[in-house]
Amino acid sequence: MSLRDVPSSRREALAADAADPLASFRDLFVLDEAGPVYMDGNSLGRQPKATALALSRLLEEWGSELVGGWQHWADLPQRVGDRVGRLVGAAPGQVVVADSTTVNLYKLAAAALDGRPGRDEVVADARDFPTVRYVVQGLASQRGLRVRWLDGPWAEGPSVAGVSGVLSPRTALVCLSGVNFRSGAVADMAGVNRAAHEAGALVVWDLSHAGGAVPVDLDGTGSDLAVGCGYKYLNGGPGAPAWLYVRATLQGELLPPVWGWWGQEGQFEMGPEYRPVAGIGRFLSGTPSLMGLVALDAGIEPLLEAGMEALWHKARRLTLLMAERAEQVLVPLGARLASPARDEERGGHISVAHELAWPATRLLVERGLVVPDFRPPDVLRLAPVPLYTRYVEAWDAVGHLAAVLADEQVRVPVPRSRVT
Ligand SMILES: Cc1ncc(COP(=O)(O)O)c(C=O)c1O
Repeated sequence: MSLRDVPSSRREALAADAADPLASFRDLFVLDEAGPVYMDGNSLGRQPKATALALSRLLEEWGSELVGGWQHWADLPQRVGDRVGRLVGAAPGQVVVADSTTVNLYKLAAAALDGRPGRDEVVADARDFPTVRYVVQGLASQRGLRVRWLDGPWAEGPSVAGVSGVLSPRTALVCLSGVNFRSGAVADMAGVNRAAHEAGALVVWDLSHAGGAVPVDLDGTGSDLAVGCGYKYLNGGPGAPAWLYVRATLQGELLPPVWGWWGQEGQFEMGPEYRPVAGIGRFLSGTPSLMGLVALDAGIEPLLEAGMEALWHKARRLTLLMAERAEQVLVPLGARLASPARDEERGGHISVAHELAWPATRLLVERGLVVPDFRPPDVLRLAPVPLYTRYVEAWDAVGHLAAVLADEQVRVPVPRSRVT
């Protein structure tokens, strides 16, 4: 089915589901057909049915093999990393699974800064996810660096022109997200990489909202360094370990800021001095979380089976459907699309801005209609996931939001919950 030919009625949405080549993947996930429409897979992906089996197999191995299990567990960060690499255009040997996204971002940004001595500026985006901004602020404060903040309308991401405008021979590092967490704006990775490299700087990408959601070609775009979450589109479960990418040709040049024994050459020789391994393994720090790794491995399996091309085709049709329907039924109620207007510039989710976005989010959840999420000051995010979201759910989710925004109850103030 063509990309632009998106359903424009509920009946057409049902027909699109009947013709959807990815429809059977929904059965691979734990879900309640009578439950609300889940639109938060960009925050926590659904649970694959295979995860329970994979975890129980690990429990059996732990029970029977005890410490001997490490003989075949030890390489899992690299093996699962290579599989993640297939989703983000990275040839084997450049991705490992480890730690959290925040910690990996710190490790790679610090390594990049150490790799560009004498330079004292970092480029980052004021609209970026908090952890990206805070890691950059922290490193800048610890090392006496100046941050050149990019800014602009929230519905837009950082542009190549914007980045080029602040690059100089003083720039050590550019640290940006591939897809903006609030608006879903997609960055031009190849263009930013090229501009940064011309200035002699390195680039770290946070691909938490891009990996498994949009086509990413780390090798093809000449990327240096990247990190991403395991629990969003990769379905690794709450608190799943994250991944990190270091371009093969940089691996010998850069040193991690944490010199841990899991990155050590001859780890079990337990020698007196730190001697990092030659490859991506040097960016491991300590003992990997096996439960997390095994669950992440199960989480990415359906993505690898479906293939990013088919997933991206359906994702774009889902967000197009929702953006068009939002224009028709939400804009008349005072909402506006807070994502890029052109669909090729949007990632896997759409954002709707409305002054009552928080109470609307609450009502949708309380009434068991839709699970979206809220991002301050006034944005409600709706993330359909092509592996398990039906076209008719995308249709209904926007309709439910319209009904809630038109309901007097939405005007009753509600305090923000701990997690929004
Ligand atoms: C862009 C981005 N980076 C990082 C994170 C989270 O990092 P961590 O897994 O370390 O909490 C998120 C979570 O939503 C995110 O959206």
